[in-house]
Amino acid sequence: MKRVITYGTFDLLHYGHINLLKRAKELGDYLIVGLSTNEFNEQKGKKCYFPYEERKKLLEAIRYVDLVIPEECWEQKIDDIRKYDVDIFVMGDDWKGKFDYLKDYCEVVYLSRTPEISTTKIKQDLGLDSTK
Ligand code: CTP
Repeated sequence: MKRVITYGTFDLLHYGHINLLKRAKELGDYLIVGLSTNEFNEQKGKKCYFPYEERKKLLEAIRYVDLVIPEECWEQKIDDIRKYDVDIFVMGDDWKGKFDYLKDYCEVVYLSRTPEISTTKIKQDLGLDSTK
């Protein structure tokens, strides 16, 4: 069984997220999502609209997602890859090159982002401050 992992915040879930998760799942048989916790997001200067538990429930309701685990820091990825016996690490290509160091542990794939949609854009269009 081929295991795939991806990471992200997935706040205000949108079709760009779904496209990413669908293509990630198609690379293997089992998709794990490392979901950024509220605390980790705050470290990154991001404030989520939906709390962690609500974002987790939304992801778990998606047919492509098999398991959601917390992403609590940048450094956990190698441990996760080993722990969950991951074959492929996937991210959108806004992260291109940033995770190449994981190639020592598994295959690393960057998928093209869906154009013209992001959580930041939704917040901007609705007049919400993305730091609050
Ligand atoms: N993603 C994508 N296409 C988009 C938006 C996001 O493929 N239009 C991917 C990202 O590349 C990442 C995953 O979805 O691999 C989760 O991204 P996340 O940062 O949670 O979503 P964004 O909408 O990019 O959020 P933000 O604007 O806060 O960065």
